[in-house]
Amino acid sequence: MDHSLDPKKLPKHLAVIMDGNGRWAKQRMLRRIVGHQKGVETVRVIVEECSRLGIGYLTLFAFSAENWLRPKTEVKALMALLKQYIRSETTRMMQNNIRFNVIGNRADLPEDVNREIQATIDKTAANDGMLLTLALSYGSRQEIVAAARRLAGEVAAGRLAPEEIDENAFTGTLFTAGIPDPDLLIRTSGEMRISNFLLWQLAYAELYFTEVNWPDFDKHELARAFRDYQSRERRFGMTSEQLVDTPS
Ligand code: IPE
Ligand code: IPE
Ligand code: MG
Repeated sequence: MDHSLDPKKLPKHLAVIMDGNGRWAKQRMLRRIVGHQKGVETVRVIVEECSRLGIGYLTLFAFSAENWLRPKTEVKALMALLKQYIRSETTRMMQNNIRFNVIGNRADLPEDVNREIQATIDKTAANDGMLLTLALSYGSRQEIVAAARRLAGEVAAGRLAPEEIDENAFTGTLFTAGIPDPDLLIRTSGEMRISNFLLWQLAYAELYFTEVNWPDFDKHELARAFRDYQSRERRFGMTSEQLVDTPS
């Protein structure tokens, strides 16, 4: 482990917007899909490293609800890669005690991809190490609207009083029910935006942006992000003095 990292102060939940595969490939005169293939290798490395470091929850934005708008050939290639990744990683997830999870509109995904996802979710269900969540066909606004609709349905059916809709009820209706909010969000490739990812859940996350494209992101870049995170003071609206006085 990197000795300048405090193992007690690592994020409990790390969320990542894995961006820059296409640009990585373009810079090398390669096809975009080659960038995605290389990106999958980074996923393997980062999943393994996070699990080794004892990160409780790792959530990776792998395919957004908006990514369906990309050229058909790219979408098809991404779906094939996804299926291949899940299939080939199940054994390693078992070895590392990782539980697999997916958030997003699974109904939009091809049937064969969904079958692979379900098989891995089932197989890893009893693991109690890191929870690895892939966000697939995921859009945060869609998630929030669906939650509102579900709660409204409960109210209309007389099973819930409007006053019972509080932050907890809302949080429990999202795809991420039961998962603590991310402490740290990393986005690679120099883009500084959220792109419809975990809008509700990121309310108090620390944000970390790096110019490095996802295929070039590695353990050292991860350690760098964690070091930066450890240097921050998370005040949650309070003052610095209050935090010193409050034993954590
Ligand atoms: C991220 O890389 C992967 C996905 C969104 C699926 P991009 O494909 O967005 O790469 P850039 O942003 O075009 O470089
Ligand atoms: C966000 O990346 C989605 C994923 C990383 C899966 P995009 O590359 O799609 O984001 P925008 O469209 O540039 O904001
Ligand atoms: Mg991108």
